[in-house]
Amino acid sequence: MAYPLDVSPSILAADFTNLDKEINKVVASGAQYLHFDVMDGHFVPNISFGIPVLKSIAGKYPLIMDVHIMIEDPLMYGPQFAKAGADIVTFHVETYNGNQNMITKTIKAIKAAGAKVGLSLKPNTPVTALLPYLESIDLILVMSVEPGFGGQKYLDIATDKLARLRKIIDESDANIRLEVDGGINEETAKIAVDAGADLLVAGSYLFKGKDFEKKVAYLKGLEHGRN
Ligand code: DX5
Ligand code: ZN
Repeated sequence: MAYPLDVSPSILAADFTNLDKEINKVVASGAQYLHFDVMDGHFVPNISFGIPVLKSIAGKYPLIMDVHIMIEDPLMYGPQFAKAGADIVTFHVETYNGNQNMITKTIKAIKAAGAKVGLSLKPNTPVTALLPYLESIDLILVMSVEPGFGGQKYLDIATDKLARLRKIIDESDANIRLEVDGGINEETAKIAVDAGADLLVAGSYLFKGKDFEKKVAYLKGLEHGRN
């Protein structure tokens, strides 16, 4: 089953000197999620923001805090993000060299700390890497760029993975959101939604330039082929 299409604006692309104003734009647009990218300089070659910033945002706005942790040790830090106010903590299935024991432990620890759990795939990781966890996760995040930086170009390899995952989710009893992240704009959003995505992360497309509300409305309107 697919969820109603929604949008998760990525604040990585926001103007940090006006964060309150930027997040209020998200609220006004009707998007229900806020995408929060955490990078540790190890799992990805970039450093963004972390727990103190999440703490200062979470709970202040009527938004679902969609926290994407691109970090080497999600077992240690995932639960801390949950406690800091993340509603969903999504970590990468490539961490711990894909060790199933460690991934399962991490899923449990994040849940025990009070958040929903997502698993993310880098562009070159096959969808089969997720199969052992379908019963225990709430969200799958398909990366359509190499994680680490905003403003990159959508990689076509993601489209087929979305389609395959849509089928797998629909054929299972699991209630899993299918999120896509990286290079989403008017054109690529359409491709991703047609393939089965039901949650669109968008950073540069929404925050750089004008018409934030119109763009969110456009993205939401892609549901059922309306645009
Ligand atoms: C990249 C991040 C993305 C990023 C998307 O590693 O996970 O969430 O903010 O940015 P855009 O939409 O600009 O590609
Ligand atoms: Zn992200």
